[in-house]
Amino acid sequence: MSALPAIASEDLRSAMGCFATGVVVITATLPDGPVGMAVNSFVSVSLNPPLVLFCAGNTSTTWPAINAAGHFCANVLSADQEALARAFARKGDRFAGVTHTPGVTGAPVLEAVHAHLECKIVDTYDAGDHTVVIGRVVDLDTDQRAAPLLFYRSAYRLF
Ligand SMILES: Cc1cc2nc3c(=O)[nH]c(=O)nc-3n(C[C@H](O)[C@H](O)[C@H](O)COP(=O)(O)O)c2cc1C
Repeated sequence: MSALPAIASEDLRSAMGCFATGVVVITATLPDGPVGMAVNSFVSVSLNPPLVLFCAGNTSTTWPAINAAGHFCANVLSADQEALARAFARKGDRFAGVTHTPGVTGAPVLEAVHAHLECKIVDTYDAGDHTVVIGRVVDLDTDQRAAPLLFYRSAYRLF
């Protein structure tokens, strides 16, 4: 192919919206407090070594803080945590009223999540208007009885 076709952002968003995902709140702790952002670009990369990734938008104001921390906790939200997903995508104090405890990296582990994976940032790659962030998993836990919060075609859904 000589010239690559132009793909409209709304068409790409619409096509990728057919790919159902979970919702994850990426958290980290800095000397002046915790930070966090909701993402659905979280995926497994490698079992051995244990690697995961998420993609951070280049306009994100939270990503530079997570990068400076050098670690993150991926909090996989449960079915009844849609309010957390919304709170961590808005501006303002995202941790107001949110119960959390420090994990082994110090990153906030949110209460009652379906699973959490604490990671050390081992690589980042520039990719278009996002940065691909590779994390080496250093601790994790799951609540096998919980159900997941899903994101599908621009809306929160239940499984
Ligand atoms: C369901 C959902 C998924 C999102 N996924 C991503 C993502 O994968 N990467 C990203 O950078 N922002 C994602 N966002 C947007 C962020 O949550 C947040 O709004 C954005 O980073 C701006 O906030 P900030 O400037 O504090 O980072 C998502 C938002 C929602 C509601």
